[in-house]
Amino acid sequence: MAENRHVTLKLEGVSKSFAKVENDEVTHALNNVDLTMESGEFISLVGPSGCGKSTILRLVAGLIPPTTGKITVNGQEVTKPSPERGMVFQKPTLFPWLTVEKNIAFSLQMQGKLKGNEDKVERMLKTIGLEDFRDDYPGQLSGGMAQRVALVRTLINEPEILTLDEPLGALDAFTRMNMQDEILNIWRQKKQLAVMVTHDVDEAIYMGTRVIVMEANPGRIVADIPIPDEYPRDRSSQTFVEYRNRILNKLHYGGKHQ
Ligand SMILES: Nc1ncnc2c1ncn2[C@@H]1O[C@H](COP(=O)(O)OP(=O)(O)O)[C@@H](O)[C@H]1O
Ligand SMILES: [Mg+2]
Repeated sequence: MAENRHVTLKLEGVSKSFAKVENDEVTHALNNVDLTMESGEFISLVGPSGCGKSTILRLVAGLIPPTTGKITVNGQEVTKPSPERGMVFQKPTLFPWLTVEKNIAFSLQMQGKLKGNEDKVERMLKTIGLEDFRDDYPGQLSGGMAQRVALVRTLINEPEILTLDEPLGALDAFTRMNMQDEILNIWRQKKQLAVMVTHDVDEAIYMGTRVIVMEANPGRIVADIPIPDEYPRDRSSQTFVEYRNRILNKLHYGGKHQ
């Protein structure tokens, strides 16, 4: 597989406002966000509901423009979506009328790149251990299996930036922990820039090389915590507990008065 180029993704003075539906007011989804991220990083974005996490991903994906400020990849402004910035959502977005194999192959086929790349589809099926389910339809799969398919369906484009919006939020606790390892294993092969939104502080620490903590009204970054520890990480280790306490305190759930 071709190596991804090294990318630097920058948000500079980024604000995003939305008009409220009910009245004339605006929601300050993001206020003056500065953030630099690069290939090799696994960024975890945590924060309460409504603090602008999904908005950051949608801006990075090029699905919406910022109100002020700019988003660049290696200096070039992001203005529209691209397969180089692949997105995985909480609900697996699969075509119900296509088999697992055809769902995975879909974007290559759309780009006229399937011929000669059939082995890639095969490799992706193998990566997620679903070779025996290639002819099944999404409706026949468990939540975890469907999310695996959605993940490799995005990865097959070899995105240089992988964004994940609460990708494991709909899974039970055990499937979720297995999937955390699977996503990390896949990411560690290519070390592309991954930016993942999660509600779960432990998941953020377990997976991230960096945890960005956000707050709402207006949406903003309140902490940027590097997690340089080796993988796999021990959820019960002293350092893990220290990271957890530090992040929970930032989120005002530390059990102490701030
Ligand atoms: N398309 C939209 N139109 C109006 N308001 C929006 C839109 N998208 C997001 N918002 C508002 O912006 C804020 C941040 O939303 P979002 O980024 O989805 O938060 P999070 O993902 O952290 O829960 C919320 O108050 C939300 O209601
Ligand atoms: Mg969200």
